Amino acid sequence: MTDTEIPRPTDGDVVERILEDHRLFEDLLRQCRRTDVDRASARTALAEVLVAHAVAEEEKVYPELRRSRAISGHEEEHSEEEHAEINEALLAFLQAKGTDTQKYEDTLEELATAVNHHAGEEETTILNPAREEVGEERRAELGAVWLSRRNQLLDEGCASEEQVQALLDEAEAEGVIAPEGAREEADAVKEEARKTAEEIEEKAKQESAG
Ligand SMILES: [Fe+2]
Ligand SMILES: [Fe+2]
Repeated sequence: MTDTEIPRPTDGDVVERILEDHRLFEDLLRQCRRTDVDRASARTALAEVLVAHAVAEEEKVYPELRRSRAISGHEEEHSEEEHAEINEALLAFLQAKGTDTQKYEDTLEELATAVNHHAGEEETTILNPAREEVGEERRAELGAVWLSRRNQLLDEGCASEEQVQALLDEAEAEGVIAPEGAREEADAVKEEARKTAEEIEEKAKQESAG
């Protein structure tokens, strides 16, 4: 599995514990960028905690927040879609051969973008309402339930390439994300638009300088 230590608290306010994990994601992303650490071990740890965290959120936290009307069904679905997008980026990162290649660096930064985007949005649209709408006692109960599932997944090992691929297949089958072909097509369109935007800005800079 991994030599990089992942903390396994067993209780606490669910909102605070989720926030701690979001900070842990940032730490592990940084570890993965360093050249003086065992990157392979950092990569495995990052994958394991990303998957355990998100699966346990989907199973134990989101449904409860929806039932107590802290979040809407739309917010729950949107978050699940972002988890699938993270899994897609994570799979590419895990598939990068070696840890000193351009592919490793590129897929790492794409994963970092997806993770940071989701953590920010979840903190705003899910954790803030949870703090406001759910009582302290219930948040503590939910914390224990979420952590128990998260830690169980960590103990079992939940983020091999095959396991992440299976999560993606499931998300596709349930319509959480578009099929792979459509996602690739959409990415190509986005890339083309990005290039065109860059050209327009470059041209405008030259014109204003000239
Ligand atoms: Fe989260
Ligand atoms: Fe999440």
